Amino acid sequence: MKKNITVILGDGIGPEVTQQSIKVLNAIGEQYGHQFTYSYQLMGADAIDKTGNPLPDETVESCLKTDAVLFGAIGHPKYDNDPTAKVRPEQGLLKLRKSLQLFANIRPITIYPSLHHLSPLKSKALEDVDMVIYRELTGGIYFGKKTLNKEGTQASDDCVYTIEEIERIAHLAFKNAQQRRKKLTLVDKANVLETSRLWRKVVQQLASQYADVAVDYMFVDNASMQIILNPKQFDVILTENMFGDIISDEASVLSGSLGLAPSASVGKGTALFEPIHGSYPQAAGKDIANPIGSILSAAMMLDHFEMYNEAQVVRNAVAWTLQSGFVTKDIDPINNYSTSTIGDLIRDFIENKLPSDVN
Ligand code: IPM
Ligand code: MN
Repeated sequence: MKKNITVILGDGIGPEVTQQSIKVLNAIGEQYGHQFTYSYQLMGADAIDKTGNPLPDETVESCLKTDAVLFGAIGHPKYDNDPTAKVRPEQGLLKLRKSLQLFANIRPITIYPSLHHLSPLKSKALEDVDMVIYRELTGGIYFGKKTLNKEGTQASDDCVYTIEEIERIAHLAFKNAQQRRKKLTLVDKANVLETSRLWRKVVQQLASQYADVAVDYMFVDNASMQIILNPKQFDVILTENMFGDIISDEASVLSGSLGLAPSASVGKGTALFEPIHGSYPQAAGKDIANPIGSILSAAMMLDHFEMYNEAQVVRNAVAWTLQSGFVTKDIDPINNYSTSTIGDLIRDFIENKLPSDVN
């Protein structure tokens, strides 16, 4: 198969982790007879520096016509501490999500037994943990009307949802639950928010079309406690944009490192694949960041291309590095390997070459 992929390296550690995914994709291409070609485009602080625009038109045009988008990370500290900045790197990603109509962000949480000791939770609490978060990505408070009065003393962000926006992601989440352990938890704040009450109503109505799925409703404050207290109770979590942003970072640390977690954003336009970690500027250019979140995002891209065996081989390669102790500094501060060495090892595993010169 031939696939053209738009690659957006982005900011901070984005370039170095994404390069490892490209190594891995090339190895898969070689082994399985696929041809992956790449169109490199700009977004984020990198794009602001080079063009003044966090999302140049060329980037959107490229994304619209390729088979998938592989994205690194976004953000730069010089904007984080400047509330008056008019142009911000994050605007690029938000606008791209909207332009590609990527309304569902899928974030699986996988636990590796060899990393139990790194989790803030006790090993026992991690047994059988396997959840996936469906986060709505193009609505809610992120995209509502924003105001700041003339005096700069009052600000607002509207949170708006329509039935159609809720239904389309809910269908995806229900369908995935049917393939998994058949449980769906809607996370909301229906005791306070009107939008949450609409989410509940819509999900309650859809539930009858998915009679084999058990539906559970949980307020977000309780859910964020339950994720720590008893994470194995969750199978598919469905939630709105802002709650999903927060609880997915929280859930990702169960595995031991935020650096391991991948994501896929899907919707009407070209799907986009990115690790859930940010730009981690302190590590940028040092070849120490964990590339696994990006590599597993590339595996989700292979699934999206219906290259299921290939995706599984990538996951097997990742599991093999982790259980063999080939890990980056976030996982083991004493015995660790560089970003690019982990990428090489995963490539070698895919090419059936045993890494004899490591150790
Ligand atoms: C994420 C990030 C983004 C978000 C930022 C960078 C805009 O935190 O993908 O989770 O809040 O959606
Ligand atoms: Mn986030």
